[in-house]
Amino acid sequence: LLSYKTQNLIPYSFGEQPKGGFIKLNTNEFPYPPSQAVGKVLAGFNSDLLRLYPDPNCSELVETIAKLEGVKKENVFVGNGSDEVLAFSFYALFDKTVAYPNIGYSFYPVYADFFGLKKVPLKMQDDLSFDILNHIDSLKNACGLVLANPNAPTSLSVEPNDLEKFVRGFKGNIIVDEAYIDFALKAKSVSKLAVELDNLLVVKTLSKSYALAGLRCGYAVGNSEFIQGLHKVKNSFNSYTLDAIAQSVAIASLQDREYFNSTIKKTITTREKIKNALKTKGHFVLNSDANFLFIKHKYLDGEKVYSNLKAKNILVRHFNSNPLISPFVRVTIGTDSDMEQFMTAFNALR
Ligand SMILES: Cc1ncc(COP(=O)(O)O)c(C=O)c1O
Repeated sequence: LLSYKTQNLIPYSFGEQPKGGFIKLNTNEFPYPPSQAVGKVLAGFNSDLLRLYPDPNCSELVETIAKLEGVKKENVFVGNGSDEVLAFSFYALFDKTVAYPNIGYSFYPVYADFFGLKKVPLKMQDDLSFDILNHIDSLKNACGLVLANPNAPTSLSVEPNDLEKFVRGFKGNIIVDEAYIDFALKAKSVSKLAVELDNLLVVKTLSKSYALAGLRCGYAVGNSEFIQGLHKVKNSFNSYTLDAIAQSVAIASLQDREYFNSTIKKTITTREKIKNALKTKGHFVLNSDANFLFIKHKYLDGEKVYSNLKAKNILVRHFNSNPLISPFVRVTIGTDSDMEQFMTAFNALR
């Protein structure tokens, strides 16, 4: 019944989304509620506006983002979550092949298949870091590159100087997915560089650091030709990707800098505290630049840690796609109270 193409699709498998009853530390959502400004916008929203189509160009939202990023409006593109922005970007930027770190966000190979691109997975170091300069030679005549920085699920970042050096020397197009950049102490956003160069696009999301995963809003920053290309792709698919409510909520959230800064700070403080406590107990934890920790229990394997925690109603994420990461679990940073319960359960694992 289905088209041949659909029969052969291998879709992304998303983290479990249970209805309740769990301490949910499995999909890197933000532990604190969105800014109070969001509630005010929702309470005051004029429902008559829903009679009309929303602004297809999200002009006010684009302006807000441009101001925040210190770039021009023509350097910003907004979409329905960064997943959608990434999908459009794959289509707009990559022709034949796309390279990506072989331990990274698992949507990249899915998009590559969907758009008929040849996949070039790049090997990580044994310590799970990604040495981008190591790949300069093998990528000389390539293609495109996409990477998450900070990376998921490892939580590690590429050396900032190495990333800039690589981008400046690379002939193909590059997408840097900065979904977790706001939690980084080491990595620095390259969104300004993206405006300056002709081969770099930066993608960000409001799902993590703005506590708006349920809203679906992401954006790209890049040179105006890339941004026009993204509009071309979007308008060949669906012109109204962001509804009127989402546009207003996103603006209010982005404008509340005080709340953003204070909740990010709290999340980083909790992350560092939990990381140090786990290390003191002898567990192996990578140096996270994100809102999650990648943890290897000192003697239990990742699958066992995942299932034993789930039995105690604590949901974390386990990946068995690669032997380098199957000993680990990925644990989203929750509130201090979530993390206390996590630590009690984790310390009791046998
Ligand atoms: C690296 C990375 N990029 C993009 C996304 C997608 O985020 P969004 O909710 O904006 O689609 C995620 C979500 O977990 C992610 O981990």
